[in-house]
Amino acid sequence: MSTVTAMTQITTAHEVRLTAHGRPGLERFRIVETPVPVPGPGQVLVRNRYLAMRAAMGLLMAGGEPTMPAYRPGEAMWGPAVGEVVAGDWTPGILVAHDLGWREYALLEAAGVRELPELADPVAHLAQAETAYAGLVEAARLRPGDTVFVSSAAGSIGTMAGQIARLKGAGRVVGSAGSAAKVAWLVGELGFDAAFDHHEEALAERLREVAPEGVDVYFDNVGGEQLVAAIEVANPGARMALCGALAGQTGRTGQGLATVDTRALIAKRISLRGFTARDHPGLGREEIAGWLRDGRLTVPVTRFAGLREAPRALLELLDGRHTGTVIVEL
Ligand SMILES: NC(=O)c1ccc[n+]([C@@H]2O[C@H](COP(=O)([O-])OP(=O)(O)OC[C@H]3O[C@@H](n4cnc5c(N)ncnc54)[C@H](OP(=O)(O)O)[C@@H]3O)[C@@H](O)[C@H]2O)c1
Repeated sequence: MSTVTAMTQITTAHEVRLTAHGRPGLERFRIVETPVPVPGPGQVLVRNRYLAMRAAMGLLMAGGEPTMPAYRPGEAMWGPAVGEVVAGDWTPGILVAHDLGWREYALLEAAGVRELPELADPVAHLAQAETAYAGLVEAARLRPGDTVFVSSAAGSIGTMAGQIARLKGAGRVVGSAGSAAKVAWLVGELGFDAAFDHHEEALAERLREVAPEGVDVYFDNVGGEQLVAAIEVANPGARMALCGALAGQTGRTGQGLATVDTRALIAKRISLRGFTARDHPGLGREEIAGWLRDGRLTVPVTRFAGLREAPRALLELLDGRHTGTVIVEL
């Protein structure tokens, strides 16, 4: 889409801006032409190659996510990206990860940029395997033989958490997802022992059907009613890693809150631990790279082509239409 002929010439590129806060819809995005930035001392210019779409962007668009930098109307949105250095302080061609997605070119301070090791598919850098690893190993203290329940199991982190739980010795891995097709995919393609559709009634009963011997570890991407169900089906001493709050996060539903009966937590000595991958930088990185190399960990991806497709990619993600990590290739 960009009209670059050489990095030394004046060039134009494109970025996606938020028009106004509100319920995510196509009218909230504007694609604008911009000059390609020129790197100054200590800066690098990066040509973005892969942009990751995330559910949290829904709430950022709605203007209601206080734990992350806000999306400002009239400005380019931000999000995870992998790109290639094309000018500035670093050697052209180096692959880097950063948060200035939603645009073709990103101008970055070299000091804050992380060079990426080579992976067969660079998209794997955006698949959040390290987040899943930190949740299972650090927050939930996964033990061999555990029965692990992963919510939003067909999503970006969920697909990693289910596979990593198995690789780290879980005895049974079960999940929830938003459609019968996703449930079948989790079991048929991704190695889950069983799964259920979270739109069904009586979630605790559904969970008990797929985990008849109870849940030892819950990897919680969702919060709300699924957390309540997990507590109900938890075994004594169960450990719950609170990773995300999708039930209230997409900016499209008013769900998200649920009442937890703390007596069950006390009686069953359940621990709930919120965590963020940022607190465990690099944890599991070598092990994950090894699994990717030998094919034991796969990275499910839904791909879109071109920046103009990015709004649709995000909106469809928020509607639960895709599996794995949703990527826009530029
Ligand atoms: N703690 C950390 O360090 C950390 C780091 C990164 C992200 N996170 C958080 O982890 C969570 C998962 O992230 P992700 O990137 O894996 O998400 P994602 O793949 O972007 O999630 C998309 C999926 O969310 C599901 N979903 C949407 N609305 C839902 C609802 N109301 N109830 C249940 N599921 C819903 C849909 O799947 P279905 O069709 O299956 O419903 C959709 O496909 C997010 O809350 C994110 O903010 C935490």
